[in-house]
Amino acid sequence: MKHFLAIADLSSAEFNQILAVAKKLKAEWRARGNKPILKNKTLAMVFQKPSLRTRVSFDLAMLHLGGQALYLSPNEIGLGQRESVADVARVLARYVDGIMARVFAHAHVTELAEYSRVPVINGLSDREHPCQAMADVLTIIEHRGKLTGLKVVFLGDGNNVARSLMFACALGGAHFVCASPQGYALDDASVAQARAIAKKSGGSVELMVDSKAAARDADVLYADVWASMGQETEAAARAKVFPPYQVNAELVALAKPKAIVLHCLPAHRGMEITDDVMDGKHSVVFDQAENRMHAQKAIVAILLASSKSKGKSKK
Ligand code: CP
Ligand code: NVA
Repeated sequence: MKHFLAIADLSSAEFNQILAVAKKLKAEWRARGNKPILKNKTLAMVFQKPSLRTRVSFDLAMLHLGGQALYLSPNEIGLGQRESVADVARVLARYVDGIMARVFAHAHVTELAEYSRVPVINGLSDREHPCQAMADVLTIIEHRGKLTGLKVVFLGDGNNVARSLMFACALGGAHFVCASPQGYALDDASVAQARAIAKKSGGSVELMVDSKAAARDADVLYADVWASMGQETEAAARAKVFPPYQVNAELVALAKPKAIVLHCLPAHRGMEITDDVMDGKHSVVFDQAENRMHAQKAIVAILLASSKSKGKSKK
């Protein structure tokens, strides 16, 4: 694994390796703290959008492993505006051992990876949120003992979080269902790609419009915002069509009694998820938020332990 840009790019061995390392680093951190396996390693964190979890969890993941993260706010770099994406990649890679980037266009993370001689990690793009999906799966396995064979239902917009979760479920042999209003479903090409992966793992991928039918007998219900960052102008129009996809007590009642409720956060309480569900017994959203740190520790440990920013390179 040279970069971590999309769950769609991972082999099942890479996917399982990240989960195994995350589990180990989490247990180690809980017991006696992590070993400084990333001593003197540095991670640049480029943000084109706001963040709480991604920023803090990457920062602390690096700190706990003996390394250091450098936060670059949306106003600083001007990715693709003040300076070309390729030049930003070339310059940053001369200073640091890894680059994590939260961008609008997925093409920007792939371009960073193309021109960087150090690993690039996607901290959310319009296409995927792969770090989130690794934390999601870790959380599902912790609470339900496995991913294989579970019915994982995403309610709402067929967005970055839904797409990464779909690929993670496909790799892990889960039955993924995405219920979205007409016009907001996951794209056909991604679904076809995920189905091909699911065929090998014994999983499945299904798209639906009816949220109630989707939620029936679910093991996992997943909510995310109806309008993602960058879609603020569409928020009012979306608020009219998405209410049937709200994760509320009525919907949770259709799921299995042991079902868990996930949300990548930040949540708009009263919109895509109600207070009673978010704070109720099925919700594991704060374990999920914590798991961002553990999943990302695994990602930086795997990618950065052997990465070199120094020395000769064509890039
Ligand atoms: N879930 C998530 O990525 O949160 P932030 O936007 O706060 O980083
Ligand atoms: N789909 C959301 C996720 C936020 C973590 C967004 O892209 O804004």
